[in-house]
Amino acid sequence: MSFLHFPLMAAIIGGHAQTTNLGSVAAASRYETRLEHDPDGIGRFYMGREIAQVMGHQAGAEWLERPEREHEERPELLLEALKLKPGDAVADIGAGTGYYTRRLAKLVGERGIVYAVEIQQEMLDDLTNKMAELKIQNVKPVLGTITDPHLAPASVDLILMVDVYHEFDHPYEMVQAMSHALKRDGRMVFVEFRGEDPNVPIKRVHKMTEAQVRKEMMIHPLRWVETNEVLPWQHVIVFQKKE
Ligand SMILES: C[S@@+](CC[C@H](N)C(=O)[O-])C[C@H]1O[C@@H](n2cnc3c(N)ncnc32)[C@H](O)[C@@H]1O
Repeated sequence: MSFLHFPLMAAIIGGHAQTTNLGSVAAASRYETRLEHDPDGIGRFYMGREIAQVMGHQAGAEWLERPEREHEERPELLLEALKLKPGDAVADIGAGTGYYTRRLAKLVGERGIVYAVEIQQEMLDDLTNKMAELKIQNVKPVLGTITDPHLAPASVDLILMVDVYHEFDHPYEMVQAMSHALKRDGRMVFVEFRGEDPNVPIKRVHKMTEAQVRKEMMIHPLRWVETNEVLPWQHVIVFQKKE
């Protein structure tokens, strides 16, 4: 499966953005189902955005480890922008095969820890094998659910999601749970392919605009800190936990 975007998906529904303050509505009405939708989406909409299909393990694992990622995503620039310190506790949510997990593990060092959270056991198995191969010992694989990353309250300094948030089946519930897992002043970082840029060759529902991410975070106990545009194709959007 390719996650590259070829012809623009004609079925994308535009102009139906919900403006409701979702914080004040019942859980059942947070999400809307539409019959007409993008073939790469799941037909469920949150705040006007269609939720993307989850990248399956079978096709996804190879794609996530493709060598071109080095120049398409420049992982070293992202890691630098995160300003992590040795000893930090980090959660790599939607860790996949561990492409970023192993790099994070190196940065936080042996006094630090990286929780690699996934909903697909096959991804976690790949990741665990790779960490053993590389003799990395400060990574803890965690099997989460579509609503809960299974992290302890106030346990992490930084939560990272690289190409993940747009796939959350229950984005509201996930962000609430992740916010609880952040320590005081902890940061939550969204790395998303730029939805504003038609030249970023990724399928439409696997991209997000900065405005959409910021709109979706407004109802959570998070404050926007910065959007870093150092990467070739992706936004790095940083929030901090509010008191
Ligand atoms: C496109 S992959 C990105 C993997 C990794 N972050 C990377 O950049 O190499 C998205 C991953 O997010 C996972 N995912 C989707 N929803 C999730 C959720 N609610 N909790 C944890 N992982 C989730 C999927 O299983 C998939 O492996």
